[in-house]
Amino acid sequence: MATSFCSFNVPKSQDPPKPLNPSLQNPPSPPLHLHNQNHSSKLVITGPSKLSGHVAISGSKNSSLPILAATLFCSGTSKLANVPCLSDTRAMASVLASLGAEVQVLGDEILVNADGVRSVEPCPDEIRKCEVGSSSLGRCWPGSAPPRSPCRGCDIGARPVDLYVQGLRALGAVVELRDGKVQAYAANGRGLVGGTFQLDYPSVGATETLMMAACLADGVTLLSNVAKEPEVVALARFLIESGACIEGAGSNKIVIKGKSWLHGSECKIDPDRIETGTFMLAAAITRSCISMSPVIPSHVSCLTEKLRAAGCKIRQRSHDTLEILAVSTDGANLNGFNVKTGPFPAFPTDLQPQTMALLTTCNGSSIVEESVFNKRMGHANELLKLGARIQVCGSTALVLGKDKGSLLSGSSPIAKDLRGGMSLVLAGLAATGNTEISGVSHIDRGYENIDAKLQSLGADVKRLIPLTCSESQ
Ligand code: EPZ
Repeated sequence: MATSFCSFNVPKSQDPPKPLNPSLQNPPSPPLHLHNQNHSSKLVITGPSKLSGHVAISGSKNSSLPILAATLFCSGTSKLANVPCLSDTRAMASVLASLGAEVQVLGDEILVNADGVRSVEPCPDEIRKCEVGSSSLGRCWPGSAPPRSPCRGCDIGARPVDLYVQGLRALGAVVELRDGKVQAYAANGRGLVGGTFQLDYPSVGATETLMMAACLADGVTLLSNVAKEPEVVALARFLIESGACIEGAGSNKIVIKGKSWLHGSECKIDPDRIETGTFMLAAAITRSCISMSPVIPSHVSCLTEKLRAAGCKIRQRSHDTLEILAVSTDGANLNGFNVKTGPFPAFPTDLQPQTMALLTTCNGSSIVEESVFNKRMGHANELLKLGARIQVCGSTALVLGKDKGSLLSGSSPIAKDLRGGMSLVLAGLAATGNTEISGVSHIDRGYENIDAKLQSLGADVKRLIPLTCSESQ
C-alpha cells in the first residue's frame, strides 16, 4: 500500500499529444455565479391559478452535474450544450475552475478544458453549494473531497458514501477519511485497476462515480446492481463519445474496458425529466391544460401512468412534446392514488413532494411512501400551513384529499429543500389568496427561471428581492 499520495491514471507517456483549444488558452473569466438569485428572495403566488400555453423544458440538472465532473477525465476541450442556468450547475463550473480547469460559460453552453488540472482538492465552499460532492472522487489524480454528509445539496436524509468508497477500493484505490475529508489515491502508485463490484443499493452517484473511474482503469471492470437512471445512460453516452468503452448502461450491469486516455467531446444535455414531471403536476393541481417540450416521454412514464389513472389526459403531440389536460368536462375531481418511490424505473423520489401537493387536492385518501431518502417528508409540515391534511409516520404519509377540488388557502411556508420547495409552489398555484414562499434559493438550485416560466403560463407569480443596504439608501 502506498504511504504517500501519488498520481494514478495519469495519461501514459505514449498517449497522443493533447491540443489545447486556442480559444480556451486565455478565456475570459466565466460568469460562474448567478447574480439574480438572492438568498432571501421570496416567491409570492396569488391563486388559484389557471395555466395555459406551452412551456420550454430546460436541460437536466442531474445529468449536467456528473457530465461536468466527467470533463475532468478528458484531454482537450469538452463542450456541453443545453446546460441549465442554475446555481447548482454554476457551482459545479466553479468547482472545476477552482481545480485549475479552464471553463467558459456561453449562454447554455459550457466549455471545459481540464488539461491544466493536476490535483483534485475542491474548495469546500463551492462543494457545499450543490450536489457535486462525491463525483470528483473518481478523478484520475489524487483526490479529496469533503465527506458527503452533511455538506451536500438538500437535507433529505443520510447521504453516505460507503458504496463509492467500497467501489473505488475494489478498483485498487486507497480511500481514507483524513482531516474531515475523504482522500483517495491508487494503492499501486500507478493507476486504478479493473475489478468487480456489486453495489448493495443501486445508488445513482456511486454508479456514475465508479463508471467514470473505471474508464481510465487498467483492465475490465464489472459493476452490478447499478442504477438504471437516464442520467447514468447520458453520462455513459458522453464518456463513450469521449473514447470510453462502456456496455450495459441502463441495465443493472455495466462493463467497462479501461482506456489509457479520453478525449474531449461534445454533448447535448437531455431535457430535465424532473422539471417535466413538475410541470405535468402543475397542470394537474391547477386543473389546466398545458403542453411542454422538449421532453423524453419514456423518462416520465411512471408519472404519466399515475396521472392518467387519476383522470388526466396526457397526449404525446410529437416525439418530444407532451400535452396534459387536467380539465374535467363533467365536473369530476381527480382521484387520489398511492405512490412508492424507488430507483428508476419506479416512481422518482424527486417528484414525491410535488405529487404529495397534488394529492391534497384529489378525491379520497392516498398513501405516499418514500423509500429512497430517509428524511424526505419535511415539506408535509409546510403544506399543512396551506390547509393540507397530511399525517406523516416515518417515511410514509397519509394524504387526505378534498372532495371538491382544492381548498388550499394562501399562507407563508418555507422551502427547506429543492423538491419540497417546489411542492409549495404547486400548492400555492392551487391555493386561494397569497402564498409567500421563503427559502427560494433551494428552488433556484434546480428550476431555471421558475417564476418567468410560470408567468408565461398565466400564473400570478412575483419574485420579491429584498433591497441591499446600499440600494435602500
Ligand atoms: C441523485 O442523488 C440525484 N442527485 C438526486 O436528486 C436524486 O434524488 C437521487 O439521485 C435518487 O434518484 C444528482 O444526480 C446530483 P443515490 P444521489 O446515491 O446520487 C443511499 C434532486 O432533488 N446511498 O442514488 O446522491 C442514499 O443514502 C436530487 O435533484 C448509500 O446508502 O442519490 C440514499 O438513501 C436530490 N450509500 C440512496 O442510496 C452510498 O454510498 C439513493 O442515493 C450512496 C447512496
